[in-house]
Amino acid sequence: MEKKLEYKALELADAKSAVAGEISWQSPSNIALVKYWGKYGRQLPSNPSVSFTLKNAHTKMRMKYKEGSGQVILFFEGERNTSFEARIAKFIDSIKDVYPFLQAIDLEIHSSNSFPHSAGIASSASAMSALCLCLCSIERNHFASLTEQADFLKKSSYLSRLASGSACRSVYPKLGQWGYHEAIVSSTDLYAIDVSERVDRIFHSFKNSILIASAKEKSVSSSAGHQLMENNPFAEVRFKQANKNLADLMQAMKTGDLNEFIRIVEEEALTLHALMMTSNPSYILMKANSLVLIEKVRAFRGQTKLPLCFTLDAGPNLHLLYPASIQEEVQVFIQSELKQHCENGMIIEDEVGEGASLL
Ligand code: DP6
Repeated sequence: MEKKLEYKALELADAKSAVAGEISWQSPSNIALVKYWGKYGRQLPSNPSVSFTLKNAHTKMRMKYKEGSGQVILFFEGERNTSFEARIAKFIDSIKDVYPFLQAIDLEIHSSNSFPHSAGIASSASAMSALCLCLCSIERNHFASLTEQADFLKKSSYLSRLASGSACRSVYPKLGQWGYHEAIVSSTDLYAIDVSERVDRIFHSFKNSILIASAKEKSVSSSAGHQLMENNPFAEVRFKQANKNLADLMQAMKTGDLNEFIRIVEEEALTLHALMMTSNPSYILMKANSLVLIEKVRAFRGQTKLPLCFTLDAGPNLHLLYPASIQEEVQVFIQSELKQHCENGMIIEDEVGEGASLL
C-alpha cells in the first residue's frame, strides 16, 4: 500500500544562498534479512523488507557543486567512470520533479568503496545512499529546510529508494525496514524507517562474516532479477510469505528468539535463490562452494547448538550472521573448516553498524 508523500519541487530561485560548495558523506551497505525481490511502478517494492546496516562496507562520497548546466562528472576510486556517471546523471534527471534545481547545478563527485568489487557486497546501496545524502545536504545548507534530523533522513531514504531500492535502508543505524506492513507502525513503501529500537539488543552487535565462494561478476543484475519476478509462477505466494516472514522475524527479534531468527533468515536466503531458479530464464547463482559452506554451517549448528546462520544476496557468497558472544568459536570454525572453500581464502569481516555519517 502506498501512502502519498509529495515533496515540493525546489527551484534554484528558492535557494536562500548561492548554491555552491562541497559536501562529503560516508554511507554503508546493508544485508537483507527479509529480501526485497520484485518491484513495480516508480521503484515500489512488491513486498516489505528489513536489513542489517553494515559497518565496514561503505562508500565515501565527496561532492563539489556550483551553478552550471546540470553536468555530472564522476570519479570512482580516483578515475573517471563514465558508466557510473551516466547512471547518476540519469537518476538526477529522473528526480527533477523533486529537485529541479539540480538541472542548473554542476556536480563533481569523487566516490570510493571500502570493499573490493568482487566481494559481491551491494555497492549500489552504499553509493546511491551516499549520493542522496549529499543531495539532501545541499538542500539543508542552501534552502533552509530539512533542519530536523528525522526529516533529513526520511528524505534521504526517499530519494535513495528512487535510486536503488535497497539503498533506502542504508541511511539508518543497525536495522532499516522498508515497505508497508500492517503490523509495523510507520512502515511505508516510500522510504525506510529505523526499527533498531524495536528489537532485542543482542542484534545491535551482530557479526557478519562474508565468505567469498566466488569472486566472479554476478550473472544477473538485481534490476533484471526484479523484473523476472513479474512472470515468476510463484510470485504471489512469495509476496505473501515475505509479509508473514517480516512480521514473524520482527517478533522473534523483539523477544531475542534466535532459533526463529535463524529459521526465517535462512528460509529467506534460500527462497531468493529458489525464485531465481524458477524464473524464465532461470539462474543458478550459487556455486558448488556455496552449497558446501551451507552444509558445513548447518552441521556446525547441529553439533554445537551455537546460533550461527547464513544469508545470501543474489550471488554465491555466504553472509554468516551471529551474536558477538560466540565470535571466538565461529572464528575458529571459519579458519579450520570454511576458509578452504572460499576463493583464495577470501573472507570479509563486518558487523552491524551505525548508519551514514557526515564527513
Ligand atoms: C537481493 O536494491 O539492488 O539485495 O532497486 O533495482 O536497485 P534496485 O535493486 P537492489 O535489489 C536488492 C536485492 C537484494 C535483496 C535486498 O537487498 O533486499
